Amino acid sequence: MPRSQTALELCASKQWPSNNDVAQRFETLPHPGLASDKRYQEVMCSLGFGVEFTDYMARASWNESAGWHDFKIEPYGPLSLDPAGAVLHYGQEVFEGLKAYRHADGSIWTFRPAYNAARLNVSNERLMIPQFPVEDFLGSLVGLVRADRRWVPQAAGATLYMRPFIFASEAFLGVRAAKRFEYGVVASPSGPYFTHGFKPINVWVERTHHRAGPGGMGDVKTGGNYAASFYAKSHAFERGFDEVLFLDAATNSRIDELGAMNVFVVMADGTVRTPALSGTILPGSTRSAILQLLDDEGVTTREETIELDELWMGIKTGDVAEMFACGTAAAVVSIGSLTMGEERVELSDSTVAHRIYQELTDIQFGRISDRFGWMYRLA
Ligand code: PLP
Ligand code: COI
Repeated sequence: MPRSQTALELCASKQWPSNNDVAQRFETLPHPGLASDKRYQEVMCSLGFGVEFTDYMARASWNESAGWHDFKIEPYGPLSLDPAGAVLHYGQEVFEGLKAYRHADGSIWTFRPAYNAARLNVSNERLMIPQFPVEDFLGSLVGLVRADRRWVPQAAGATLYMRPFIFASEAFLGVRAAKRFEYGVVASPSGPYFTHGFKPINVWVERTHHRAGPGGMGDVKTGGNYAASFYAKSHAFERGFDEVLFLDAATNSRIDELGAMNVFVVMADGTVRTPALSGTILPGSTRSAILQLLDDEGVTTREETIELDELWMGIKTGDVAEMFACGTAAAVVSIGSLTMGEERVELSDSTVAHRIYQELTDIQFGRISDRFGWMYRLA
């Protein structure tokens, strides 16, 4: 039976206005000092992830009387914030992440932006932040990418990573939802997220700390979830691991998410499983796309509870063939080992991860037809 579409998937597949219809929503201001050619060349010749930023950023503000207003594409630079600004004290903020891909004909596209816009609004609702209209979200990406066009890399596999965010700016220390907010989008020309290419990653299974709990905020994209993950992540990095597999906080026995990525398990019989969206897991756009790609290929997929003990045993017996993680930043990354305390299990296969990575990135970079209608032209 085909999967029923989630609310985010339904929003992503709606017919949204085209780039030209939303392009004028944000006014582009003059830039007094664009990056020099020398600086531009330096940045584009050594692309990291999220370290260098473009000439411009998108901005808008919200207050009770005007709602969202002051939509601008303006020179990239520091924001001014009152030291009592609510985000600094209570962490009322949300963000998104998506990429701009340059196709061979020079056109620039992004992947399912309405999915991210809808998810931003789910995050907004959870954090008592005003809804941000999908059309304005699209307009901010179109406006920014058109102003920053030269920063969308041409190098194979490189992209312009775009980071929309909203934070509470009201200067007020009382403990309640703020009444002033700022929206922004910054963009960073980026190479691959994992610098060692498609090499399988070594994962630490974290049994002491959790990133989210039942009724918490794990299913939305807010900074606190990432702050909550850093302790385990830093300790794992120090011991040479690439990522952390978090378990659910209620039972400490089920696999949840891999750092900032969703996780998949490929069984020896070809079935592909991923933890169900239980409320503590972010509903990844990549996760959703992979489920659709696999369904389309006729692969059996299951969204369900995955017990760590069963997974561990399955890897040992060979019932589990492969594991991989996915997200916008890395696309798809294969998992080579899991370590829990002193015990380690290895996974040697990455066939499905490779195939899905290739198919997904071929669609994103316009090398094969976009048969699901996922791509949105920005410029
Ligand atoms: N899980 C978490 C916690 C994330 O931060 C992300 C990244 O956005 C994902 C999963 C993957 O989501 P997506 O595929 O939409 O990038
Ligand atoms: C992703 O895009 O996959 C992420 O996990 C975003 C991360 C850089 C916060």
